[in-house]
Amino acid sequence: MEKKESIIKYYKKQSGFYDITRPLFLFGRGEIVKWIAETNPKDHLLEAGCGTGHLLKSLAKNTDCVLTGIDLSPDMLEIAQRKLPTEINLHQTDLEDFNPGKKYDAVLLSYVFTLDFAKNVEQIKRVKQLLKHNGRIYVVDFHRYGSALYKRYMNWHGIEMGVELLQLLESEFATKRKSIRKAYGGVWEYFIYEGANVED
Ligand SMILES: C[S@@+](CC[C@H](N)C(=O)[O-])C[C@H]1O[C@@H](n2cnc3c(N)ncnc32)[C@H](O)[C@@H]1O
Repeated sequence: MEKKESIIKYYKKQSGFYDITRPLFLFGRGEIVKWIAETNPKDHLLEAGCGTGHLLKSLAKNTDCVLTGIDLSPDMLEIAQRKLPTEINLHQTDLEDFNPGKKYDAVLLSYVFTLDFAKNVEQIKRVKQLLKHNGRIYVVDFHRYGSALYKRYMNWHGIEMGVELLQLLESEFATKRKSIRKAYGGVWEYFIYEGANVED
């Protein structure tokens, strides 16, 4: 099965209990909303892989951003649609196929890159094409496994993590802020990143 299909299938099963379970391990999502609110509260912002709309809801409450969300999974988007104000545009699409005909001031990816680690180079290239010059990329994601047992558990959930992701972001964007944190005393690490697109 292609990775894209397996992500859609996985979230078909997970969507029903996603919002209850994820606060237990998708750390840093509240922090990244604060970073965005501090830097560009009125911008056109795209969340790629918006899922059930957890961050878009918080961004709508805490910023004046014009918000758009895209996601591969129709099941996750259905939940987002129910909880979000109608002025937030939602589209079911792969990031790689999304062609809005405009560029954004900011693109946010929260726990998306580690779902398809092998595609990160292409995905980052696509994000750059969607960003204005000096537009911002915001990323929160897993950074490093704390143990071999935890690696096995995460791989079973289709998640692969490694320090290469943050290195790649830093080589493709001008780093504005970054923070690496430990979860549960070091079972894993996650990072929060803000970079600027220095290309046109
Ligand atoms: C772990 S969830 C994160 C959802 C949300 N960003 C959050 O933090 O709660 C990852 C989401 O990314 C979506 N996704 C993964 N790869 C994608 C891609 N290439 N294009 C669009 N959405 C994608 C999945 O369908 C899923 O809803």
